[in-house]
Amino acid sequence: ALERTLSIIKPDAVAKNVIGEIYSRFEKGGLKVVASKMKHLSRKEAEGFYAVHRERPFFNALVEFMISGPVMIQALEGENAIAKNRELMGATNPKDAAPGTIRADFADSIDANAVHGSDAPETAAVEIAYFFASTEIFPR
Ligand code: CMP
Repeated sequence: ALERTLSIIKPDAVAKNVIGEIYSRFEKGGLKVVASKMKHLSRKEAEGFYAVHRERPFFNALVEFMISGPVMIQALEGENAIAKNRELMGATNPKDAAPGTIRADFADSIDANAVHGSDAPETAAVEIAYFFASTEIFPR
C-alpha cells in the first residue's frame, strides 16, 4: 500500500554533514520526501515525541542526545514506506545493522544511531502529525 512514514536525521548525522547522502538513500529506495524541516528540538518536544519510551532506562540519555543539535525531519511517501524505511535504516543498534544500511554506514552507537523511522502505520500517523501540519505536506 502507498504509505507515509516519519523520518528524523538525528544530531549525529546532521553534524557529520550527511543529510544529502541519507536523502539519496531514501530516493534510491523509492521513497519521496513529501515534507521536510530542520529544527533544534526543545526538551519538551523531544520528551513528547518519545513519550512511549518514558519509563525506559535510556529515556533521559535519548532526550539529551536528541536536543544536542539540530535534526532534519521529513515525511517519506512510497509503497510500503514504513517497512522500506526500516530496511534502509538497518537495525537500531548499528552493531547489528546489515552492511549498506544507513545505520551501518553512518551510526556510532545505539543512541547516536543517525536516523529514526516510524515502526507502524498508527505511530507513523501520530509522528507525522507531531511535526507537520497537513498544509506542510505536499502535494496538498
Ligand atoms: P529510535 O528509532 O529513535 O527510537 C528510540 C531510540 O532510543 C532508538 O532509536 C535508539 O536510538 C535509542 N535507544 C537507546 N537504547 C536503546 C535500547 N536499549 N533499545 C531501543 N532503543 C534504544
